[in-house]
Amino acid sequence: MDALERIRARRFPIPMENSMNTHADQFRIGEKAASFLRQEKKLLIDGKWVPAQSGKIFDTYDPGTGRIIAQVPEGDAADIDDAVKAARRAFEEGPWSRITPSERGRLIWKLADLLEQNADELAELEVLNNGKPLANARNSDVALSVDMFRYMAGWATKITGETISISAPDKYHAFTVREPVGVVGQIIPWNAPLLMLAWKVAPALATGCTIVLKPAEQTPLTALRFGELVQEAGIPAGVINIVTGFGPTAGAAIASHPQIDKVAFTGSSEVGRIIVKAAAGNLKKVSLELGGKSPVIVFPDADMSVAIPGVTQGIFANSGQVCTAGSRLFAHKKVFDQIVDGIGQRAGNIRVGHGLSEGVQMGPVISPVQCDRVMGYIEQGRSAGATVAFGGTRIGNEGNFIAPTVLTDTRPDMAVVQEEIFGPVLCAMSFDDDDLEQIARQANDSIFGLAGSVWTRDLSVAHKMVRRIRAGRIGVNVHGSVDAAIPTGGFKQSGWGRERGQEGLNLYTETKSVIMSL
Ligand code: NAI
Ligand code: MG
Repeated sequence: MDALERIRARRFPIPMENSMNTHADQFRIGEKAASFLRQEKKLLIDGKWVPAQSGKIFDTYDPGTGRIIAQVPEGDAADIDDAVKAARRAFEEGPWSRITPSERGRLIWKLADLLEQNADELAELEVLNNGKPLANARNSDVALSVDMFRYMAGWATKITGETISISAPDKYHAFTVREPVGVVGQIIPWNAPLLMLAWKVAPALATGCTIVLKPAEQTPLTALRFGELVQEAGIPAGVINIVTGFGPTAGAAIASHPQIDKVAFTGSSEVGRIIVKAAAGNLKKVSLELGGKSPVIVFPDADMSVAIPGVTQGIFANSGQVCTAGSRLFAHKKVFDQIVDGIGQRAGNIRVGHGLSEGVQMGPVISPVQCDRVMGYIEQGRSAGATVAFGGTRIGNEGNFIAPTVLTDTRPDMAVVQEEIFGPVLCAMSFDDDDLEQIARQANDSIFGLAGSVWTRDLSVAHKMVRRIRAGRIGVNVHGSVDAAIPTGGFKQSGWGRERGQEGLNLYTETKSVIMSL
C-alpha cells in the first residue's frame, strides 16, 4: 500500500462546526486528524499550551467547502510579548544557550522523524485547511518539510567562521565566528503552510536561535500540530513559540517588538513594506520573500513535449498560489500557438476539485477574498483587451474553485501582466526576433525578480539568457525547484535574502570578527 492508499483506507468524518452543505460529508479523514480537529486549540508559549489572553478565538475554514473546520486562539500583542519573553529566556539563560551543536542537530533530526511518522495526518490537515490535493500535500509539502529539517540538522554542526589572512601576520591573528542572531520572529503565509514553516524554523534551530512563529490566519492547523511534535521531540520550553492570530495585530506585534532581533516574512509586497517600517524601531534584521511575476521564455527549438507540461505545471501547481509561479509566458511566434494550445488542452484536463477527492489535481484558491481577487484580475484583463483563451470562470458554487486560465493578447502595461495574481492565471505573450537582449528586456520588465525559466535545446542561448534574467532562481527546461539545498529568494522587489541552502543560514547568524595581537 502506498502512502495515499494507506490514508484512504481509514476514514472518519470531518468534525464540522456548522453544516452549510451536504457535499462535504463525502470527504473522510484519518482518526488522528479528526481527533486533532476536535481538540481545543491553544497557543504554544514557553512550553505550555495556553489560550489567548483576550480569550478570543477565530474560525478556520476548509477552502474546498467553505465550511468551518476548527477554531483557534486569536493571539495578539500581549501573547506575542509573552512569547518573546519566553524566547529571550530560552536564548539567553535557558538550556538552548548551552546545548551543543551536535545535540541541536539531533533534536532537529528527531523533529524530522516525527513529521515523517505523522505525515498522513499532517497532509490531511494541510489539505483541509489549504485546499491542495492530498497527493501534493503528502508527497510534496510534508515530504519536503521532512527533508528541510534533515538538511538543516546536518548544518547544525557545520556552522564555522574563517581564519583571515591579514597583512601583518606576525603581529596579529584574526578569525571569524558565526553566532546566532538571537530571538527571531517568523511570519508564515498560507500557500504552503507547513513547508514555509520548515524553511524558516529549521535554519533558525540549526543556528541556535529561538523563535516566535505566527502562521497565516487562514492556515493555522499544521503549525499547531507541529507545536505538539516540538514538545514530543524534547525541544526545550521557549525555543519555539507558536501564536495564531491576524496580521495587523499579532503579525504587526512581531515586526515592531523591541526584543526581537530579526524578522523573517513571506507574503505580499504590501505587507513586506509595512514590516520594514515596523522593524525600523529597533533596527531588527529583516528577510523578506515577497511576490513574483516570473517569466517563462520558450524558444522555437524547445522540446515541446517537455515545455508544454513544464509550463503548465509552472503556473497551475497549487492553483497558481506559488510565489515563483511562471505567470508570464513569452513564446517565440513560431511556437506560440502550439504551446498555448498545448497548455490549454492540458489545463482543460486538470481535475479540479476538493483536495480529498480521489484523483484531484488542482484544489480551490485559499479564500473567498482570494477568489474575488483572482476573478477581478481576469475581468480587468478582459476589459483591458486581453482574450480569455482558456478557463476564466469559477467552478461550482461551493468552495473557491477557479478554472485554469490562459489569457492571450496581453500587453506589458496591463495590470494582469504587471501584478502578482496568485491564482491559476497565465498571461501568454510572444516575441518574434532572435535578439536575446530584447527578449530579456521584456522578461525583466517587472518590479519583481523572484524566478524565471528558459526553454531551449541550445546551450549557448540557455547560458546567455540565464545571465540576462534578473531573478533569484532560473530554471532551464524546468520551472520549479524543490530541493532544500537550493537557495531561493528575490532580486528587486521580490525580497531581501535567500532561504534554503547554506545561504539560508546567513539569515540567522551574525559574523563576529576576532583580532588578537600576538
Ligand atoms: P499577506 O501578506 O497579508 O499575509 C501573509 C502573512 O503576513 C500572514 O501570516 C499575515 O497574517 C501576515 N500579515 C498580514 N498583515 C501583516 C502586518 N501588518 N504585519 C505583520 N504581518 C502581517 O498576504 P494575503 O493578504 O493573505 O495575500 C495577498 C497577496 O499576497 C496574494 O494575492 C499574493 O499575491 C501575496 N502572497 C504572496 C505569498 C508568497 O509566497 N510570496 C504568500 C501569500 C500571499
Ligand atoms: Mg493581506
